[in-house]
Amino acid sequence: MNVLLAEDERINRITLTDLLVKEGHDVTACEDGEGALGHLRTREFDVVLTDLRLPGAGGLDVLKEAKARSPHTVVIMMTAYGTVDTAVEALKMGAYDYLTKPFAPDRLLRILQHVRQFRQVMDENEQLRQRIRRIETSSIVGDSAPMRKLQETIRLVAPREYTVLIRGESGTGKELVARALHDQSPRRDHPFVTLNCAALPASLLESELFGHERGAFTGAVRRHDGYFERAAAGTVFIDEIDDFPLDLQPKLLRVLQEKEIVRVGGSASLGVDVRMIGATKKDLQEEVKTGRFRADLYYRLNIIPITIPPLRDRKEDLIPLAAHFFEKHGAREAFRKLSPPILEYLRVYDWPGNVRELENLVERVIALSDTLGVEEIVRDTLQIEPRNGETGASRRESGTSYSSLMELKEREIITWAMEQAGGNVTVAARLLQLPRSTLRSKLEKLK
Ligand SMILES: Nc1ncnc2c1ncn2[C@@H]1O[C@H](COP(=O)(O)OP(=O)(O)OP(=O)(O)O)[C@@H](O)[C@H]1O
Ligand SMILES: [Mg+2]
Repeated sequence: MNVLLAEDERINRITLTDLLVKEGHDVTACEDGEGALGHLRTREFDVVLTDLRLPGAGGLDVLKEAKARSPHTVVIMMTAYGTVDTAVEALKMGAYDYLTKPFAPDRLLRILQHVRQFRQVMDENEQLRQRIRRIETSSIVGDSAPMRKLQETIRLVAPREYTVLIRGESGTGKELVARALHDQSPRRDHPFVTLNCAALPASLLESELFGHERGAFTGAVRRHDGYFERAAAGTVFIDEIDDFPLDLQPKLLRVLQEKEIVRVGGSASLGVDVRMIGATKKDLQEEVKTGRFRADLYYRLNIIPITIPPLRDRKEDLIPLAAHFFEKHGAREAFRKLSPPILEYLRVYDWPGNVRELENLVERVIALSDTLGVEEIVRDTLQIEPRNGETGASRRESGTSYSSLMELKEREIITWAMEQAGGNVTVAARLLQLPRSTLRSKLEKLK
């Protein structure tokens, strides 16, 4: 580790430097506070080991400077007998530990050993956080044209402070998009708070959202912070915003315009630092026309509208989404059970419950497929009639001989593979584990 040592007594300085160098540390030693501050300004140290009493700037100044420059730097204080109170104060200011002089070298080495472990855990923690963030932000699945455009919009809009209004049918992923906007914004390390207007009675909504003062109403025994205060520096996601009570809408407008709230039963305005994202299943403009939603609030919210198309309008996303959900629920292998006819069921279905409905279906398949056939589960869940009519008809046309039935099956399989491969023969051949030339000749035969 990189160690900065500030110690005015020459003998101590030399002994400690020797000890630390022998342990493999990279040591910069200085004899007074000014010197230590100078080093801190030019480079970053893993550890600062400083005497509390130093000529020039004292150890506490060194501590303050080190922490201000880099919060990850670990500062260890050395203190003479009788100055322990100040050492405790140093701990409060962020010092990692202190040593009372004189101390055995082992004491110092043990502390450094802890520091090393502590740093490892911190590093690991940071890496995990980054990984989770990457998984979360990359988890909007879908490569259809509208989803690619949506991803692009999110990338552009997320880092800015714009208010966003998300529109989409039930289960299209409105909350997921709101989270992505938060996760890709500078507010990502602060809270993301969801308020569902439809789930809260109007009487509670006001105090939940804006907070209330003690005694604001019967039962308000203590002050209560609202969502806007709890989301400080973060994002407030208001779901089903079309349900927001009309008489409270001016208060919401005030948050957007002035970044201010007044608690229920209070009179002072409080500043709030939040970004607001709204979501609705309805056509808000229609709600404005019929007087259920204030026009001024609508325009303020609708600065950046994002519309998520229903799943039936982007069926290319079905297979990647299904694969994603099998993986998400820890059953990557089970995805293989979706045979071509099953995929065909998924394609003809209308998906009124959108992506959520697909996810529910996948969960059902995972739960039940040990006892039931997957095709049966899918048909039952989606309430689709068996395909007898269709295959029966083509069966009659092309005869019922073994070879014509085989050809029918072959056509189905090859069509499926070609669709999966986006028309690319090489990819389709690999998918079916067939030599490319064999697939080619079969394609020619089947036209
Ligand atoms: N493009 C997508 N990629 C991955 N998962 C998705 C996608 N869209 C939706 N989901 C998943 O589908 C489920 C439903 O999404 P979400 O809750 O965001 O929908 P919603 O629009 O808020 O629905 P509602 O209007 O009913 O509240 C969630 O588990 C979500 O993670
Ligand atoms: Mg939702």
